[in-house]
Parts: sequence; structure tokens; C-alpha cells
Amino acid sequence: MTVRQVKVTVKMCLGYRKCIFIVLTLFGLIFFQHNISNVESWKNHLVSALYKVQNRIQPSNLSETHQAFHHKRTPYCPHLAQPLSPEEELEERNLLDFIAWPQPPFGSEAPNLSQTSDPVHSHFTIVNAKNWSVGDQLEVHVQLRDFKGRPKRYGGDLLLARLHSLKDRAGVAGQVLDHRNGLYSARFPLLWEGSAQVDVVMVHSSEAVAVLQRLREKRPDRVYFSSIFGQGNHSEKMVCNMCLPPDQGPLCNFTDLHTGDPWYCYKPKMLSCDTRNNYVLEGSLENIINSKEELLFQSGVNLKVPIHASTSNAIIVLPSRKGDSTQKLDHAKVATSGYYYQDIWRSLGGVTKRQFDGASITQCLTNKLVYMYGDSTMRQWYEYLVTVIPGIKEFNQEGGVKVGPFMAIDLTHNILLKFRFHGPPIVTRTTLMAHKLRYIANELDGLTGGPDTVVALSVWAHFAPFPVEVYHHRLWQIRKAVVRLLDRAPGTVVVVRTPNPRAQDRDLSLKFSDWFSLQLDTVLRAMFEGLDVLLVDAWQMCVAHHQPHDVHPPRAIVMNMVDVMLSHVCRDRTKKTE
Ligand SMILES: *[C@@H]1O[C@H](CO)[C@@H](O)[C@H](O)[C@H]1NC(C)=O
Ligand SMILES: *[C@@H]1O[C@H](CO)[C@@H](O)[C@H](O)[C@H]1NC(C)=O
Ligand SMILES: *[C@@H]1O[C@H](CO)[C@@H](O)[C@H](O)[C@H]1NC(C)=O
Ligand SMILES: *[C@@H]1O[C@H](CO)[C@@H](O)[C@H](O)[C@H]1NC(C)=O
Ligand SMILES: *[C@@H]1O[C@H](CO)[C@@H](O)[C@H](O)[C@H]1NC(C)=O
Repeated sequence: MTVRQVKVTVKMCLGYRKCIFIVLTLFGLIFFQHNISNVESWKNHLVSALYKVQNRIQPSNLSETHQAFHHKRTPYCPHLAQPLSPEEELEERNLLDFIAWPQPPFGSEAPNLSQTSDPVHSHFTIVNAKNWSVGDQLEVHVQLRDFKGRPKRYGGDLLLARLHSLKDRAGVAGQVLDHRNGLYSARFPLLWEGSAQVDVVMVHSSEAVAVLQRLREKRPDRVYFSSIFGQGNHSEKMVCNMCLPPDQGPLCNFTDLHTGDPWYCYKPKMLSCDTRNNYVLEGSLENIINSKEELLFQSGVNLKVPIHASTSNAIIVLPSRKGDSTQKLDHAKVATSGYYYQDIWRSLGGVTKRQFDGASITQCLTNKLVYMYGDSTMRQWYEYLVTVIPGIKEFNQEGGVKVGPFMAIDLTHNILLKFRFHGPPIVTRTTLMAHKLRYIANELDGLTGGPDTVVALSVWAHFAPFPVEVYHHRLWQIRKAVVRLLDRAPGTVVVVRTPNPRAQDRDLSLKFSDWFSLQLDTVLRAMFEGLDVLLVDAWQMCVAHHQPHDVHPPRAIVMNMVDVMLSHVCRDRTKKTE
């Protein structure tokens, strides 16, 4: 079966409950396959496995698969969680298996710093130095060592790798493979001629990741929220969160009736629950790790620090041997979504990416409705479009400066842009009005949709501090709403932006580490695999770029992301592109 056939199968299923089951079966088998066949798992490389194993998949396997994966676990926040449907629980279980990260071989007590990964003592080597040509694959071996220079014996460190050229303003993200013995390899497709250099960065030691993993499961309370309840001249401020301890007073239940996304506040003493006015990030807990653990998160020492080459990190890439570079890249396409050349992102596979200016964006979006939902990384797309479309005018700055909702219209060309934030958790100091909080799935259910409607989603940054189950449930609801939308309004264009790496220091990384984001990234990709949805690979677009990581990528990257979306929105629909 080809990719196209899979998509057709899924499409035919839309709207039938049974077929949702089939999709789930696919997931089950992928993860099973993944687990048994890949002792070494490609980080970053995210699942085109769907297309590899489908031949073996029969819907009748459902009950078996279900059996295999339906083991019991304690849900996050059991006293407040709504019971999951068997399908959701199954998928959640599979995803948790899928993102399982190697655990360092020690107990709950962190080892001394001297025994942990040290980027300065660690080195990488380019394998088989020879004359490289465009279309070849470059492989790099990384040996991690501890602070005393001893080779590490286990894996689980978070490394990022890229190959780039400042001269050509070119770059591509590497695929990092953890051999689980202190050795890693990174692979890069060679996509441009001339010089290039390899950069490897250790984001976290495996010992630091173990701390983060514990915090994510055990301390989801490390960010907390509040609301002011008020009536007349009386007001009370109460603590709120997705999960609250049961024994500290009665609760107000703000769980969404349609999506089941949980939200609770302690009940005010004098006021009723429906007097909630606003929503704000109250703070984050300090001192949640001990002094030994703090040493694992030192900027410039072991937090996002480069690993150097043992000899050279530079290569020269000759022209393709056969003069045709595109023929030979098939092996790399699966994992590499694209690369920069002259600061312009070139997508590999799918629709050819074009460049757009104000006039061509206007032309592309004429008579279109563009609904953007999510966090501030989606607001960046809205802001970019508002600045480049010449005839656009903003209306209704009704909400907060940062959270919206925002709306902009080009009356001449009949273009409507809207941005709305996702529902809680929103980890921002900006005060939000409680009645303005909306969940994306509900908003999507209110859209008419159709070929002139574009929906763009970016949901990740605010979920980093919380257990993966929270994110899974949110995406589960959003995906169901997307499927309903595509079912009732075929031709609606849906675009999903992935997470991206960001600048890190110790305090930030305890809540918003790239490790959390990468885990969410894996979940997101797996959950939208096989749907007629375009994924914009923000992760690779930021890893490959020469600018420093930032939760809000610089305009040069945002422009490329929006161009990927527009290339898809305004592709030539008369031609088959797959
Ligand atoms: C997946 O792999 C992990 C670690 O190797 C193992 O503990 C787990 O039992 C496996 N799960 C399945 C369903 O095979
Ligand atoms: C909160 O409300 C939701 C939706 O009505 C409900 O399913 C859930 O059980 C409630 N939670 C508690 C703890 O009562
Ligand atoms: C860690 O360091 C302390 C103090 O230097 C020492 O007593 C202890 O044995 C070390 N632990 C390990 C596991 O090496
Ligand atoms: C690399 O290219 C140079 C110049 O074309 C040539 O002299 C050399 O033999 C080549 N080396 C290898 C290992 O192919
Ligand atoms: C507001 O406060 C004043 C004095 O502090 C009090 O007399 C009055 O009853 C209050 N009004 C309401 C609606 O609670």
C-alpha cells in the first residue's frame, strides 16, 4: 500500500465509529512493532512506521492488540479524572510505551556530578572521512564521558545535532540514535554542495532527564494558578489547577462539559462558584530539587552545551555523482522534513514549498478564512500575516495584549484571520477573563469549514510541565473535532505546527525543558499520523537554523513556517502531489 492508499482508507472511515477503532488498531501495532524491533530508537525520527507495517494490519486484530496493551495503571489525578473510554486508555498506554525514555541505572538518589555526562570531556567523530557528495549520508559518532573523562556506560542523554553552513545559510537537523551504552550516532542527509560543519549539543545529561521525568510525574503542581471570585464589593482569591489535593476543602468544578478537560478551583468561602472572574498564573514552586540535583542543570556546564569534535567538524560536499541530487535522497526523506538553503526552507516530500510576499499571500488567501488556535507560537503566525498582508486591518482588540482573541480582515480581498488561545493550562502572567477561555475542540465544532477554510493549530508550550496524559487527552479531543470537521466539510485545510526547542536555564528547564517538548512532539506526530493534516515541522526548522533556540522563533523561521502552510493551502489541486 502506498501513502495515498492509507489516506484514502482513513478518509473513507471518517464519521464511522468503527473506523476510529481501525485507526487505533494501527496505532497499537505500530507501537508494538516499534517496541519489539527497535532496541535502539531513533529520537526525533517520528513514525512513518504507519506506512511500513500496514500490510500486516487487519481490523480483526483489534481484540488481540487491545488485550496486549490493556494493562492497568494509576491515572493522573485519579480522584478528579473522568474515566477514560477504553479506546482512549489504550492509545494513551501505547503512547506512554512509545515515548518511554531509557532510565539511568541508579535508584532515586542522583549520582554525584563527577559520574554524570560532561560535554567538555565528550567528543564526536565524523565516520569514514572521505569525499562526500550531495545525496550521501553523513554519520557522526558521539562518545559521552563523565566529568572525570570516563566513558559513559548507559544512554538517555538528550542530544541535538545539525549540519550547517553559515556561508550558504544552509542547515539540516540530524537524526540522533541512542545506542544505550554512552555512544550515540547522528545521521545527516547531504543536501547542498560546498562546506558544512557538524554541531552537536548536549541539552541534558541522562541524569538530568531522570530528574525531569520524576518532576513531570510527581510534581505537576510545580506551576499553580489562581482565580479571583467576586460579587459586589467582596472578592476572594482561590488556588486553581487541573488537579488539586482532595482533602483541603470543597472544590469548584470547571471541567469542560464537552471535552472533559479538567479544571478546578478551591471554592470561595462566601461566594458561589459561578462568580469566577479571571484566571492567572499564580506562581511556581521553588526548591523542588535538591542541591545535588541542581548541579545537573548548570548553564554553560551541562545544560545545552556544545560537544566538540575530536578532530574536525567540517566537511566538503562535492556535487552529486550522477548530477541528480533528488533521486538518491529517498532514504533520508522519511526522517528529514526539509533543510535550509540561503535561509529558505526547502521541504522534502509533499508539496513543493514556495516563497510568498505580501502580494502573493493576498492572492493565496483571497476569499479565505484562516482560524489560528493555540499558544503564542501560533500567535506569531497571526502577527506575521497581519504585518505582511498589505490590505489587512485589525479589529476587536478585545482581549489581553498577548492572549487575544484577535481578528484581522482584508475587506477588498475578503480575507479573515482569527487567533484564539487554547484553554487552560495557560502559563502566563497575563490575567485572562474566565469567560474568554475556550477549548479548541469546541471552537472547531463551531466552524462550518470547507475548501476556503484554513485551520492552523499549535498546542504544546503550556503543557510541558504536566503529565503526558493531560496533553494526550487534549489532543485526543482536538483530533476528534478535526475528524468531525473534515467529515462534514471535506476540503478544509488543517495544519498542525509541532513544538520547537527553546532557550533554557535551570529554573526554566525544570518546567519547560526541551525534553518535555520533544516528548510532546512525539505524541503530537503520532496522533495526527494518517490524517489529512499538514504537519509543519517546527522542531527541525529550529534545530536546523543557525539562530539560537527561542520559544518564539525569529521572524526568518516564522516566515518559512507560514510559507510551508501557504504552499499547502494554495497548492495546485488539479495535480496529484502524492
Ligand atoms: C516495551 O519496552 C519496554 C522496555 O524495553 C518494556 O519494559 C515493555 O514491557 C515493552 N512493552 C511491550 C508492550 O512490549
Ligand atoms: C467535574 O465535572 C465533570 C463534568 O461534569 C464530571 O464528569 C466530573 O466527575 C466532575 N468532577 C468531580 C470531582 O466531581
Ligand atoms: C559522592 O560523593 C560523596 C562525597 O564526596 C561520597 O561520600 C560518596 O561516596 C559519593 N557517591 C558515589 C556514589 O560515588
Ligand atoms: C578526493 O578527491 C580528490 C580530488 O578530486 C582526489 O585527489 C582524492 O583522491 C579523493 N579521495 C578519495 C578518498 O576519494
Ligand atoms: C460593600 O461594603 C460596604 C462597607 O464596606 C457595606 O456596607 C456594603 O453592604 C457592601 N455591599 C455589598 C453589596 O456587599
